[in-house]
Amino acid sequence: MSLVPLLRKRFCAKEFTSEKIPEEKINSIIEAIRLSPSSYNLQPWRIKIIKDQETKEKLFPASYNQKQITTCSHLLIFLTSLDIDEILGKLKKARLEAGTPEEQVDAYLSRLKASLEKKSPLELRMYLEEQTYIALGIAMLEAASLDIDSCAMGGFIEEEYKKILNIPEKYAVSVLLPLGKAAHPPRPKIRIDKEDLLI
Ligand SMILES: Cc1cc2nc3c(=O)[nH]c(=O)nc-3n(C[C@H](O)[C@H](O)[C@H](O)COP(=O)(O)O)c2cc1C
Repeated sequence: MSLVPLLRKRFCAKEFTSEKIPEEKINSIIEAIRLSPSSYNLQPWRIKIIKDQETKEKLFPASYNQKQITTCSHLLIFLTSLDIDEILGKLKKARLEAGTPEEQVDAYLSRLKASLEKKSPLELRMYLEEQTYIALGIAMLEAASLDIDSCAMGGFIEEEYKKILNIPEKYAVSVLLPLGKAAHPPRPKIRIDKEDLLI
């Protein structure tokens, strides 16, 4: 099934109506995130879901007063774990549950740990956040497939978010995805031409 019609349909909503999205649809988006692919299957993304209006109001100024934050039904906050031991611990658990023998898992993960530890903190953050953005893209498409509007958002102040939400230091706040029913129709799609895309 081609995703092109879905990609033509979806758009970044700037404001939402008061309609609430049913929890089963939110769960389906979370499942799509859970199934997203990542380098070495690291799955470093962690999701915080904000539903209460009071917290959304607190986050509004830390999001440059963008109305998506206060009007959305659910705000998905994409965190990225920067803690190599936490990431590999969860991966070990998943691999053991899938039936891989423990010595095999340990040998693999210790090689992986050594290679991740060679990166500078900035390189590590960039590499891990690349993975989180894959999950973001998949979440946007799953939302569109369920007739839920969204808007990926990088316009927020990370330090403020961390303070307001009490996010532990080991997590980066990477990107936001407010979800809801768009209050306004989409603007025309603006994309570069195929000739400008292909080089
Ligand atoms: C990573 C990322 C961050 C974005 N941040 C914001 C943002 O802070 N505020 C906003 O209104 N739109 C934001 N956008 C939406 C883009 O401007 C929008 O996707 C782009 O202009 C294409 O328009 P369309 O999504 O409606 O097709 C962001 C999009 C992405 C992918």
